[in-house]
Amino acid sequence: MANKPLLHLDNVTLATRTNPSLVSGVSFQVEAGESIGLIGESGSGKSLTLRSIIGLLPSGIEQAGGKIELNGRCAMIFQDPIRALDPLYPVVKQLAEVVHFRQQVSRKASRTIALELLELLGLPDSLKGKDRYPHQLSGGQCQRIVIAMALACKPDLLLCDEPTTALDVTVQRQILDLIIRLQKELGYATVFVTHNLAVASSLCSRLYVMKEGKIVEHGDTLPLLQNPQHSYTRMLINSVLPLPELERSAES
Ligand SMILES: Nc1ncnc2c1ncn2[C@@H]1O[C@H](COP(=O)(O)OP(=O)(O)OP(=O)(O)O)[C@@H](O)[C@H]1O
Ligand SMILES: [Mg+2]
Repeated sequence: MANKPLLHLDNVTLATRTNPSLVSGVSFQVEAGESIGLIGESGSGKSLTLRSIIGLLPSGIEQAGGKIELNGRCAMIFQDPIRALDPLYPVVKQLAEVVHFRQQVSRKASRTIALELLELLGLPDSLKGKDRYPHQLSGGQCQRIVIAMALACKPDLLLCDEPTTALDVTVQRQILDLIIRLQKELGYATVFVTHNLAVASSLCSRLYVMKEGKIVEHGDTLPLLQNPQHSYTRMLINSVLPLPELERSAES
């Protein structure tokens, strides 16, 4: 009981009526507080794998085999922050609603907690005094609200599905720094889906490479990037500018 991992996927297969192995034989473990990365080509099954963990598979897709064991609370940050918010409700109200339902506190207390979360996420006071709607916020501010909503669930595991690709590069960096800083403060583990190897290598201790619904290669981040076995991993590495640290340690 004591040594159970936070998350254990054992031979998970996801299927539709016409495709019995959309995702097949996926296995990995995540320990409390650690970060692992899922990388792989478009359509390889990364998002579906994350959705299966949190129980949000699209209709028509089901888990056809294997086991998912989650020993803690889980929340997910989606790729497109604007679409993750309801355009018809002020953002603070949406955040307070999540707090109300997930933390089982009164509406008044949930508003106070929502405002504290905005503070934690570095959102400006102007968002607190007067309620704003999603379209009145920048993309980076929307993603901070979405992250605040995920954190309102007090997750032990935060699933991040390319949480910064919809944002411009300087904001990407701020959001990633925020996820890392809060991880140190709050101690959640992450499964991080990204195409960005610099992000993967700075955030994740282990990487899993997916292709056509299967994990084709996995290992500790630096050895895997220094000595990739699979052609897709090599292609991914060759398509980015050289990473100086990797080159130096490869020479030594
Ligand atoms: N709702 C759905 N119904 C049927 N097939 C789907 C559905 N959603 C995804 N798929 C299929 O499942 C496969 C995996 O999709 P998934 O979204 O997990 O890919 P991904 O690795 O996240 O790709 P990307 O990097 O482009 O986000 C794809 O072939 C996709 O077409
Ligand atoms: Mg995806």
